[in-house]
Parts: sequence; structure tokens; C-alpha cells
Amino acid sequence: MLLQGALFDLDGVLVSTDEYHYRSWKKMTEEEGIAFDRKVNHRLRGVSRLESLNIILEEAGVEVPEEKKSALTDRKNAYYRELLKDLTPDSTLPGAREMLTALGERGVKIAVASSSKNARTIVAQIGIEDMLDAIVDGTEIERSKPDPEVFLKAAERVGLTPSQCVVIEDAEAGIEAAKAAGMKFVGIGTPEGLPNAEGRVVASLAEISPDALLQ
Ligand code: BG6
Ligand code: MG
Repeated sequence: MLLQGALFDLDGVLVSTDEYHYRSWKKMTEEEGIAFDRKVNHRLRGVSRLESLNIILEEAGVEVPEEKKSALTDRKNAYYRELLKDLTPDSTLPGAREMLTALGERGVKIAVASSSKNARTIVAQIGIEDMLDAIVDGTEIERSKPDPEVFLKAAERVGLTPSQCVVIEDAEAGIEAAKAAGMKFVGIGTPEGLPNAEGRVVASLAEISPDALLQ
């Protein structure tokens, strides 16, 4: 029996905004003289904006008073939103659009389940709204991944139980969340980058067939 729901992370799975997140954190931290690199950036995948800043500060050994943090996250988000203006329907990652189309044709319920508060802007900009049955984003959840909340909400939104859904994720935190939700998962990336995906990893959505995804 094939699964009936596919819950997609957005950044780094359907669209390469993970790179924009990196560039905007990099710009802000350079201005502030805070150490930050791609290795630290990998830990930020799937994690909320404020939690991302806390990880960056902890890794750099820098302390910032709580009341100053929102100025830093606001500035990062302004840089990020500037980059988002470049997104077009061509910005989807390899195989993403084809996978959404194929799943839709099979009657599979499709949701975007993202920690990002910018998710709806991105979905509109890359023109995939019509292919989705639901979007749950960072404005609708209390706890970001690795908490399962976003995936449980997305399954509920499309009228399915967790065991009927597969999660597609590029973040360790997202794979953890899928496991906590009691859902199947497929990692996007490398087995080394996603050790908790237990080998169930492909380089992109172009590397897996819709049937294999739903198994
Ligand atoms: C996730 C990204 O999708 O959204 C994280 O993987 C990001 O890197 C998080 O921090 C929150 O995004 P935003 O757009 O609300 O700052
Ligand atoms: Mg992601």
C-alpha cells in the first residue's frame, strides 16, 4: 500500500533558499564580527530564525543581550527578503516541480511544512501554490523542528494520519521531527550530512521516482 500524503520541507528541498539563508546570515555576522561558516550553517537547517541566531552565537562564543537579538534577526531577515526577490518559477530545485506534478496526478495529498515565516512568500514567488493542498509555516507553530508540530499540523490539514505520510527533508532537525511524528522520511542531501536519515537519502528529487518516495 503506497503512502497517501507527501509533506515537503521548503528551503533546501523544493527551492535553493537554503543558500540565501546562508548568505544573509553571513552578511549580518560579518558586519558584527561574529564567526560563521557553512559548517555552522548546516546546523541551522529547519531551525527557527531566533534559534538559528542562538546557535550562531553559541558556536562563535559570543554573548548578546536578549533585547538586542531581534535587531540582529530583523537585519538578517531584511537581507534575506531582498534575495527572495530574485526567485522565479525557475528557482525550484532539480526534480521538484516534476515530483509535485506526478504526485498530484496520483491523487496524493501534498503539503509544504516549513519552519519559515517567509514560506508563503516563497511559495507564491516560485508559483507552486496550485500544486499544494496545504501550507503550514513558521507563523502557525509554537515549536520549530525537531519538534513534530509542523508535520502533525500538515497531516491534519490534508486529512491524513501520520502513518499515511512521508516527509521530505534536507535538515537533521527535520528528519528528527518526522521520526517524532511517526512518519516515513526521505532525506535530500548526502548520507554524511544527514546521519539520522539512516541511508534513506537522495541527492535531489530528480533521483527518486514518485513510487519509491511513497513506499
Ligand atoms: C527553515 C530554514 O526552513 O526556516 C532555516 O531551513 C530557517 O534555515 C527557518 O532559519 C526560519 O526561516 P525564516 O524565513 O522564518 O527566517
Ligand atoms: Mg530545509
